[in-house]
Amino acid sequence: MNQNEFKRRRRQLMRMMGPGSVAILPTAAETIRNRDVHHPFRPDSDFYYLTGFAEPEAVMVLVPGRAHGEYILFCREKDPTKELWDGRRAGLEGAVDDYGADDAFPITDLDDILPGLLEERERVFFAMGCDPAFDKRVSDWVSQVRSRARAGVHGPIEFLALDHFLHDMRLYKSRAETSVMRRAAKLSAQAHRELMRRCEPGMHEYQLASVFNHECQMQGANGLAYPSIVGGGNNACVLHYVENNEALRDGDLVLIDAGCELDCYASDITRTFPVNGQFSDAQRALYELVLDAQLAAIDKVRAGNHWNDPHDAAVRVLTKGLLKLGLLRGTLAKALKAQSYTRFYMHRTGHWLGMDVHDVGDYKVDGHWRELEPGMVLTVEPGLYIPHGAKGVAKKWQGIGIRIEDDVLVTKGEPDVLSKDVPKHVDEIEALMA
Ligand code: GLY
Ligand code: MN
Ligand code: MN
Repeated sequence: MNQNEFKRRRRQLMRMMGPGSVAILPTAAETIRNRDVHHPFRPDSDFYYLTGFAEPEAVMVLVPGRAHGEYILFCREKDPTKELWDGRRAGLEGAVDDYGADDAFPITDLDDILPGLLEERERVFFAMGCDPAFDKRVSDWVSQVRSRARAGVHGPIEFLALDHFLHDMRLYKSRAETSVMRRAAKLSAQAHRELMRRCEPGMHEYQLASVFNHECQMQGANGLAYPSIVGGGNNACVLHYVENNEALRDGDLVLIDAGCELDCYASDITRTFPVNGQFSDAQRALYELVLDAQLAAIDKVRAGNHWNDPHDAAVRVLTKGLLKLGLLRGTLAKALKAQSYTRFYMHRTGHWLGMDVHDVGDYKVDGHWRELEPGMVLTVEPGLYIPHGAKGVAKKWQGIGIRIEDDVLVTKGEPDVLSKDVPKHVDEIEALMA
């Protein structure tokens, strides 16, 4: 992403912060996997959103109106020996030249320099409660400034939740962001299509997961946005099934919930299809019901509608269909009121999508469901889950778990389905798998 995009975001945030304020934002900590081995580093989403800086051990400070520069980046200094072992570093010069910092300091000097930046600043924007050790450092810096009151130095008097402001910004995707998200969805879609082509009875769930990784990475994705779920047959009824270690059986469906990450943006796609390429009658009946619910929900992803409208639409279609198939009993009105569908559909129809797969942003404002606005991106993912042994349910429906999930951008007009390149109609799926 272009550096101007990050600069524009910092400007927008600083306008909201106003003069007399300061924002402090560290990136994620590196975490140990086991002895000498780290988990692959992924920058903190908020930090990366404002800086585009992907190295560990960095802190961004914004000081609106500061004469010597408003954007300060603390980061690792260049070090030929360490870089030989662990990879290149931007260093202080790179922070300024390549990442647009007005000023850069060694991360090791943070405790010495930060208190000075708080002097004569009334408000501190900071996301408290994410990292107790860092919270303590911030409060130590503030105390240091306050202890100089008799020397006439004024310290901050107000703390504000930086994340609250940032997360509202992140909810509205810019043109640059939607274009990365569209590309991420396209890569994932291509990988999902490849799974439909390659799947056959006897393969293992982990082999499909592996093909998905391979396809995404071969096309330049940075990895996965979350661990893939590949559930054959009854395993699809475990919502967060990630063992992925069983063989896929002839006659079963397989549910695959997988999405790549690209430039720190997530895609999140689920498809469910027959392991042998042909839906049975019972599978088809349930599948088409979920698809109808999904299409009805997507049609509600329109500016001016509320967050809950897609969910309500999906629930209505599912309930009606379950009554018709004899899986629920009673009248539509009564079944909806009693929420009897929750026996087979126990999650919500979607979530915000962005840098985090379950992205930031409030779902309610002042106690009411939020209105959808252009630039918001959400998933639409209804499902039905009928495990083996479900009491009072005919055998033919058992062992079937279905979810269909797409990524949808709210526009001024029609819903824009970013993940539309993976087939989801029965005929299309059977044709691709034939
Ligand atoms: N892949 C996680 C979800 O669908 O919410
Ligand atoms: Mn998903
Ligand atoms: Mn999802």
